[in-house]
Parts: sequence; structure tokens; C-alpha cells
Amino acid sequence: MIKKFSLPRGTADILPDEVLKWQAIESRARGICNTYGYKEIRTPLFEETELFARSMGQTSDIVQKQMLNLMSQKQEEDAAGFSLRPEGTASVVRSYIQNDLDKKEGLSKLFYLGPMFRGERPQKGRLRQFHQIGIEAIGPGSASPYLDAEVIALSVNMLKGFGLKADQFKLKLNTLGSAEDKENFSKFLREQLQPHVSELCQDCQQRFDRNVFRILDCKNKICREIVHKLTIDHTHLSKESRQYFQSVREVLDSLNISYQQDVLLVRGLDYYTHTVFEISCPLLGSQDALGAGGRYNDLVSQLGGSAVDAIGFALGIERIVLALGKDGAFSESPLDAFFIALDEISLKRTFIFVQQIREAGISADMGYRQASLKSQMRLADKRKARYVIILGESELQKGVVTVKNMGDGSQTTFPIADIHKITDILKK
Ligand code: HAM
Repeated sequence: MIKKFSLPRGTADILPDEVLKWQAIESRARGICNTYGYKEIRTPLFEETELFARSMGQTSDIVQKQMLNLMSQKQEEDAAGFSLRPEGTASVVRSYIQNDLDKKEGLSKLFYLGPMFRGERPQKGRLRQFHQIGIEAIGPGSASPYLDAEVIALSVNMLKGFGLKADQFKLKLNTLGSAEDKENFSKFLREQLQPHVSELCQDCQQRFDRNVFRILDCKNKICREIVHKLTIDHTHLSKESRQYFQSVREVLDSLNISYQQDVLLVRGLDYYTHTVFEISCPLLGSQDALGAGGRYNDLVSQLGGSAVDAIGFALGIERIVLALGKDGAFSESPLDAFFIALDEISLKRTFIFVQQIREAGISADMGYRQASLKSQMRLADKRKARYVIILGESELQKGVVTVKNMGDGSQTTFPIADIHKITDILKK
């Protein structure tokens, strides 16, 4: 028996019917990025593994458990160790530094769209190949509460632009403070959690030493109970960090963006400092994060670039598609003309005619085989054709074609040689 292939677990085909939704999301995202002054950047789908480890943190779940490493046939190429990109921020920062963007422009406002890869256990809304729309604002002068608020506003407006209603998603906001504040916070957390270490889940017991923040968003029931009993506030933050966060909130309020402050929101990646946020859609179940982001003021210098601040976010397209469900106007654009040939000789002439019409910028298609008028009209209906053009023996003899307007049912004959007249009609 011949083996039939299936797609790899955790990946998905996006079939033509669904692609309409994807195209609409992508083109709206591009449009919105454009209005906010973001320019597209495209980076490779794989990078040195160390880039991701140094950016997201050696102890992050992604680096620990989810990296998809590449092996090449040539051993010398493996020396550096490459991995498929699990997210876009690290690559964008690598490119920002490598291409001296800091010297070329003040603030670089960049966006990207494309597949990301994480070796996770697949489930609804969680894939191994998924797609993100992300933005990154990097550069001197980017540490402004106005920019934090603008980036958050942009992510909210994008979701609304895709057709999601304001009551379909929730915005959570927090601050982690500076690197020093984070250090104080992890010390504080370790002190508070020390008496409960043995009650924590296996993962969190390891996180206690390696990445104590992650205990705060563990989904295990017992870990959650322990965390909820802790008194967590912003007292570990410096005065400047608290003031900065206060300003971000004030600007968000002035934009009428509603959010919920959540001291437990820490995000799983090491590079975050100060503002962090997450947007969730409660209807999606356990994988409810539509997108997330935050400030990462130390990453560019940690990767060898200049000391510039940065902030960004990424939305997951699959989850947006799930959240939209059947909502949103994503219909196929109608075909301008469907050509019907009624016999073999007309078929030859029709084929050439279709190519000429397409060259004039009109969308056109045909049946490619001689078939009855009735069955070809059904095909034209299926394609939602605005006009049907019929060519048969009698038309060929008279040197004309019949053009039928599918909207009002009217029929007109035109000389076949008068292609301009026909294209004029079809463009209407
Ligand atoms: P993240 O929270 O890891 O952040 O991912 C952002 C979004 O990507 C998630 O909220 C979710 O919608 C989607 N996503 C993540 N993993 C999967 C998966 N396995 N399957 C389906 N969707 C997924 C980042 O990636 C950061 N780089 C965001 C950022 C940009 N921070 C600053 N700049």
C-alpha cells in the first residue's frame, strides 16, 4: 500500500477558505502598523541557538524545553548550533545591532509577520508552528511612558481592527521594574516561598532556584494557592520605577484604554524590564493569551549593541482566528468573468481569450473542458462570477461573444475582435 503523508503534529494547513481570514488579518495588521509608523523587517526563520538562550534566558521554559534545533548534513555547520526561531524579538534585536540601525535612525519602529516554532505539547491554540504579528520599538529615547502606552494602544487597536469586540478580550498590566528591582523581587519571592518549597510542583521546585518568577504563573492548583496567599505588591520597586509605571497608567487612562493591574503578571522571558502586559480572550480556554509584550531595556546592550531602550509585543494569529470564530467579513472577492466554451473549436479560442482578458487586469477563469452550458453555469455560480462569457459554434461563425450580466440577467453580444469594449464592460 502507498503511504499517505500527514502533516507533522502541532502544525496546520491553512486551506483556501480560511486563508481569506488570514489575508484580511495580515493586511489589516500591515495597515495599522503603517499608521503608527512601523516598518516591516524580515529576518531568517532560524538563528544561532545561543542568541535565543541569551535573550530569553537559559532557564526560560522555551529555551529549556521547546527549542527546535536544526541538524545539517555537514557537521562543521552544526558547530554554532542553529534553532528555528521561537519568537521574533531576539532576531530583530540581532538584526538591529548587526545592521547598525542605532546609527542610522533615532528610534527604529519595526514590525514582522510570520511563523515561529516551539516544541510544545500540541493542543487547541498551542502549536509547534504558529504565526505572530509583532512590533518592536528600539532606540535611544524609547524609554517614554508615551511609547509604552502607544505600543499597548496599538495592540488593542489591532485586535479591534481584526473585528474583535472590546468585551472579548482583557488587558493585564504590570511592571517588573529595572534589573535591580527584579533582583530585589526575586530575593523577596524566595524568602516568601522558602517555607513552601516542598509543597510546590516538581517544575516549580526547579524554578525556585532557576527562575522564581515563573512560579507566579504556574497553573498547578497547589502552586496557585500558595502564590495567592503571598503578599505581593510593588514595594520592591525603586521610586523611579514606580513613577514610570504610574505615568504609563496615566497615559493609558488618557487614551481610555481599560486594563487590569496584575502583580502576578511576570512573563516567562528573562529580557523584560518595567512595563509588561498580556491580552487574553477568556473564551479560548487554557491557551487564552492572544498576545503579550513589554519593555526590554537591557537586551540590546546584553547582545553587544549600544545601551538603548526597547519595547514590543507579539500577537498569535492562530488564537486571533479562533477568537474571531465565524465573526468578521472575510468573503472571497467575486470573479469578474467566467468563460464558457460550448464545443472543441470554441474551447481553443476561449482559452486564448481568457489569457488576454487577464492581461488586461480582469480576473477571469474557465472550465478547461467542453461541457454542457448548464454544468458550466453552475461552475460560474459557484465562483460568484459577475459576468459569464459564452462562445459556441454560432458565435464563432458570427465572430461575436455573448456577455451575460449575472447580476440582472441581461445579455449582450459583442464582436469578438472588440476586446477593449468587452474589457470596459467587465471592469464596470
Ligand atoms: P509570547 O508571550 O511568548 O511573547 O508569545 C506571544 C503570543 O504568541 C502569545 O500570546 C500567543 O498568542 C502566541 N503563541 C505563543 N506560543 C504559541 C504556540 N505554541 N501556539 C500558538 N500561539 C502561540 C513573545 O513571543 C515575545 N517575543 C513578545 C514580545 C515582543 N515582547 C516584546 N516584544
